[in-house]
Amino acid sequence: MQVFYGSVINPETLTSYKASSNTLLALSPQGNVEWIAHDIQDSMVQETLLQNGCIDAEVVALKEGQFIIPGFIDTHTHAPQLPNIGLGAQYELLDWLDNITFPMEAKFSDDKFAEAAYSEIVRRIINAGTTTCCYYGSLHLGSTKVLANIVQSLGQRAFVGKCNMDRNAPDYYREDSPETSLQDTKSLIEHIRSLDTGPSGIPLVRPIVTPRFAISCSNPLLSHLGDLVSSDPSLHIQTHVSENKSEIEFTKSLFPECGSYADVYDKFKLLRRNTILAHAVHLEDEEVALIKERQAGISHCPTSNFHLNSGVAPVGKYLDKGIKVGLGTDVSGGYSPSILNAIRNASIASKIRAMQPDTGSLGPFGNKQLSVASLLYLATLGGAQVCDLEDRVGSFSPGKSFDALVVDVRTSMGNPALWGSDSGVAGTKDLDTMLERFLYCGDDRNISMVYVQGKRIGGASR
Ligand code: GUN
Ligand code: ZN
Repeated sequence: MQVFYGSVINPETLTSYKASSNTLLALSPQGNVEWIAHDIQDSMVQETLLQNGCIDAEVVALKEGQFIIPGFIDTHTHAPQLPNIGLGAQYELLDWLDNITFPMEAKFSDDKFAEAAYSEIVRRIINAGTTTCCYYGSLHLGSTKVLANIVQSLGQRAFVGKCNMDRNAPDYYREDSPETSLQDTKSLIEHIRSLDTGPSGIPLVRPIVTPRFAISCSNPLLSHLGDLVSSDPSLHIQTHVSENKSEIEFTKSLFPECGSYADVYDKFKLLRRNTILAHAVHLEDEEVALIKERQAGISHCPTSNFHLNSGVAPVGKYLDKGIKVGLGTDVSGGYSPSILNAIRNASIASKIRAMQPDTGSLGPFGNKQLSVASLLYLATLGGAQVCDLEDRVGSFSPGKSFDALVVDVRTSMGNPALWGSDSGVAGTKDLDTMLERFLYCGDDRNISMVYVQGKRIGGASR
């Protein structure tokens, strides 16, 4: 049995987290958390292990400057757009799709190209600390199968979907008909569900139905997808909503019979508990109420919302309403595959909202700066809720999977100036300080080990 001993940070609520510097955390052979004991002094370790029936446990003792947090959950990204990161800041969404995005995604018609690109891309996302990732593939069945296979072989937890898009896209990058789009979606679902589930018996990689956004889907295609998910309540759904003002206007003109953008998805039976809605920057009040009622989750993608000039999402308002919110990198609308970057921009976005005059009655989060505890929560447990996976991941409690990061603020790989530990400035004993500095200044070099389902799958330390 594997047991960790040291500092563990457990996001519990939006306003606080439990930080304990002397924690024993034991894993089951299936990679789940078996038990946790807090406030265990060095002298009590052996006794506590024996009390819990751990006779020959392998104890991994964390060093000063190291701590464990739950792995990051990226609730929205586009794998075939990684090669484009950093490009396109001069565009808004619809022009950016035509000029930057579709030409790159079209290259994934070539499975060989996809194999090489996705191997690097998924490795990079894992080493950035993302243990669960919601991936958009391209529209191609072949290369999206390749993506799912690579994610599976590298051991990441993920949802993988191929884009459904049969209109309002260039001839070279559009599906032929609603029927072929549906057929390819079914084939991908079948393929992903045939992948090996490993020792836990629970699949790490799951299919997700991915209507790109309302604009790119004809009514017959949305009808087919609505029927598909209605026949299988376990299927997840991901799409975009209310990202950009021109996009919203265009959507309304395409669906005059629908009351709002979110209502389009609702009318086609695509809005439900396991639906992930990316962006939600400009929602109308009725849409907020509808999303809450349907228990769908929102992926807050602040880097992308800034980069593509989309706007500043009122995330505090959504939290006050009790809507599930997680973070998304939305590469390459967002220019970084790291959730740390999304955390920083979520912080700035909340500060911008806080600088605006108060609008109406606000609860504890509306138009206020997000705290460190809330930022960590959004990146972990909030994301788990958006993915409808909060029973499996997002925090550490017995029965949940050990999807975790060992963070090292004093890594010899670089970045030491941030911590100033030798000069005694940073304080590597104070967990709150270490966490705050890591969230605002850390990078991949500080993510020493990445675990999914109790198995080490990446990280900077050799
Ligand atoms: N809406 C439709 N497609 C996309 C995409 O690829 N990125 C973003 N940010 N929004 C979209
Ligand atoms: Zn997106």
